[in-house]
Amino acid sequence: MRAVDLIRRKRDGGELTAAEIRFLIGGIATGEVPDYQWSALTMAILWRGMTPVETAALVDAMLHSGTVVDLSDIPGPKVDKHSTGGVGDKTSLILAPVAAACGVTVPMVSGRGLGHTGGTLDKLESIPGFCVDLDLDAYRRIARDCGLVLIGQTAEIAPADRVLYALRDATATVESIPLITASILSKKLAEGIDGLVLDVKTGDGAFMATHEDARTLAESMTRIGRELGKPVQALITSMDAPLGRAVGNALEVQEAVECLQGRGPDDLMEVSLELAAEMLLLGGVAASRDEALAACRQSIADGSALDRFRRVIAAQGGDPRVCDDSEGVLPRAAVVEPFRAARSGYLARIRAWSVGQASMLLGAGRARVDSTIDHAAGILFRRTVGDAVQAGDVIAEIHVNPAHAAALPETLAMLDAATTVTDAPPRPRSRILERL
Ligand code: URA
Repeated sequence: MRAVDLIRRKRDGGELTAAEIRFLIGGIATGEVPDYQWSALTMAILWRGMTPVETAALVDAMLHSGTVVDLSDIPGPKVDKHSTGGVGDKTSLILAPVAAACGVTVPMVSGRGLGHTGGTLDKLESIPGFCVDLDLDAYRRIARDCGLVLIGQTAEIAPADRVLYALRDATATVESIPLITASILSKKLAEGIDGLVLDVKTGDGAFMATHEDARTLAESMTRIGRELGKPVQALITSMDAPLGRAVGNALEVQEAVECLQGRGPDDLMEVSLELAAEMLLLGGVAASRDEALAACRQSIADGSALDRFRRVIAAQGGDPRVCDDSEGVLPRAAVVEPFRAARSGYLARIRAWSVGQASMLLGAGRARVDSTIDHAAGILFRRTVGDAVQAGDVIAEIHVNPAHAAALPETLAMLDAATTVTDAPPRPRSRILERL
């Protein structure tokens, strides 16, 4: 078998067999299929696509390029959630403790933020002491003891994806549905889960800007996951505006804690609880959506979800007092600058993409994989879409440290362009657009 013949076949629109795909993926570790051949192949796949059978074979080969964790000794269902990413998306920090409190173990391997989108690991690392770089033994132990664990991708989990993702990033081949499907599912199925809930975001601040593209990706991932024997459920949710009020790592942790204390904003609570309810249904611990939602709400009302969060923070070396005194424990920015409404009316739009870009200027996001971030920096909205505002009212607070304070005028201008105030209130819309 020669890689060049397989690249040519894919380039000309042909199909690859499972054995050929295994050879190509296996060749990453052995060096038999070097980067330049994989670069050509990813471009051929981007143009020609893959059949569902080829995509399933690719997921399977990438999954088995590393360790597939066995969590079968932990009693009960193990279910995770994956989001395609957005601005202000801190649902993992809320739904993981909620699902754990309701009897579903959540072994979560997450990523870092890149570009205008945030990452769960960066948010968690704003909690003093919190360690996301744990080995698989600690991962298993904490999942068993706490019912949830939140770590970064280890060298053992889907190593072929690490190589391919970096190549795709550098060769403009990220936007391929079969390659995204294989990248996400190979990592998630390696975690040792029984089921997966997907939050496929669409809108201005999402990776998939249109609902159609989001549906195509969601259908690909649910279909291939099911073909590989794992129940996968997907929600398509709106990412036109930032989710919740906070954008920026420590600010988002504080908001997640407020949600677990029962004081979260409606849009964030809606998405978090709907996703958590899907996890309970996949895990078989609730018989209906209503029952699942009621159990999730109860875990917040009785404090059991917050208690799970406290336990996992302590188990991963973090300061659990963040659950009781977030402001006292989390890093705070030195400067808080108001962004005010220029006119009176109703806040009709807050464009997620622009807010994500503005928060990057403050140091809250990462322009490159190796950029350092300022955990305290970010934007905290005091008004949200649908609210009435008077000229001069504070719409948002900009949290910034001196190192990035020079970006304040540009950040204010970006927020001005990102927000629209109208005479009439906008029509209220659910964030949940579709359930697949
Ligand atoms: N996230 C991933 O993990 N992989 C992709 O290909 C795209 C988004």
